[in-house]
Amino acid sequence: MRMVDLIEKKKRGGTLTEEEIRWMISEFTEGRIPDYQMSAMLMAICFQGMTETETAQLTLAMRDSGDVMDLSGIPGVKVDKHSTGGVGDKTTLIVAPIVAACGGKVAKMSGRGLGHTGGTIDKLESIPGFRTSLTREEFFRAVNECGLAVIGQTGNLVPADKKLYALRDVTATVDSIPLIASSIMSKKLAAGSDAILLDVKTGSGAFMKTEAEARTLAETMVRIGDHAGRRTEAVITNMDVPLGRAVGNALEVREAIATLKGEGPKDLTKVCVTLASRMLVLSGLAEEGQAESMAERALKNGTAAERFAAMIRAQGGDPGVVSDVTKLPAARCTGTITAAESGWISHMDAEGIGTASMLLGAGRATKEDVLDYGAGILLVKKTGEKVMAGDTLAILYTSDKERLPAAEEKFRESIRISDKEPDRPVLIYGIVR
Ligand code: URA
Repeated sequence: MRMVDLIEKKKRGGTLTEEEIRWMISEFTEGRIPDYQMSAMLMAICFQGMTETETAQLTLAMRDSGDVMDLSGIPGVKVDKHSTGGVGDKTTLIVAPIVAACGGKVAKMSGRGLGHTGGTIDKLESIPGFRTSLTREEFFRAVNECGLAVIGQTGNLVPADKKLYALRDVTATVDSIPLIASSIMSKKLAAGSDAILLDVKTGSGAFMKTEAEARTLAETMVRIGDHAGRRTEAVITNMDVPLGRAVGNALEVREAIATLKGEGPKDLTKVCVTLASRMLVLSGLAEEGQAESMAERALKNGTAAERFAAMIRAQGGDPGVVSDVTKLPAARCTGTITAAESGWISHMDAEGIGTASMLLGAGRATKEDVLDYGAGILLVKKTGEKVMAGDTLAILYTSDKERLPAAEEKFRESIRISDKEPDRPVLIYGIVR
């Protein structure tokens, strides 16, 4: 087989065979197809797309490019969750403990953040002592004892995606539905769970800027999951406005703990209850119609917060943060942003808020950046809320006060106040089964 022939075929809108896709992925992973040929193929896929079958075959070939986790040492149905990323998205920290409190098993691998979206691993590492790198035995023991564990991605999981993503990033070929879907689903399939819930976000702070694009991505990923024999569902949720009121690692852990105690912001609580309830249905632990009340009960009766503390203990962290959040890192300096005029907040650019938080030290502009765990933003007002001139809109946190002016400027650029009351943002656009 010659790569040039496959590029030619795809360029003309042809359909690659399973054999061709497997050959291309394994040769590329082994370094026998040069980056320039793979770049041409990626661009051809961007323009010509892939059929449903090709996309599923590409995903499975990528999954098989490295290690595939065998979770059979954990009895019961293992359920995973993946979010396509957003600002203030701390749902894993809430949803996984709820599911564990209801009898589910969540053996999860998560990533670090780069740019305006924070990663779950970074948030967890803001908890003193918390280890996101566990041996296989430690990981299994934590899930068997606590019902959940969250670790960073292990060394050789889907090496094809690491190479492909690095190439896509520098060849303007990230935004192709078959390429995004195969990238995400190959990692989820390699992570070994029996059931997968996808939280596909749409809006200014998300990869998918429109609801239609988010729905297409959700449908594509659910079909891949079906093809691979995994129970898969997707929930399409709003990321036009940051989720909850906290943006930044330790600030988000604090808000997650409040939510686990039933004292969280309404939007965050609603999204988490919806996601957890779908995971309970996928795991066979709840019937349709009773799953949401089961999830809400775990928040009210304290069992979800207990599961979170148990996971922190099992992963070497200080579980005392759950009863005393002042044990979490805090920033030394704060800045207050006040409203220059009265009216309603009509728009908040979630990506801009995420960038402001990154400028404070909460996110990475490059892989090498060191995080300031206490840094971030507390949104006192959000889209749809009324403000009077002089009201506090947000509080900025950082350990380096030199960072405050640029972050304030970015924040102000990201928010619009109008004299008309806007519609309240939709939280959940739908579920794809
Ligand atoms: N997240 C991924 O893991 N891969 C993509 O291609 C896009 C988002």
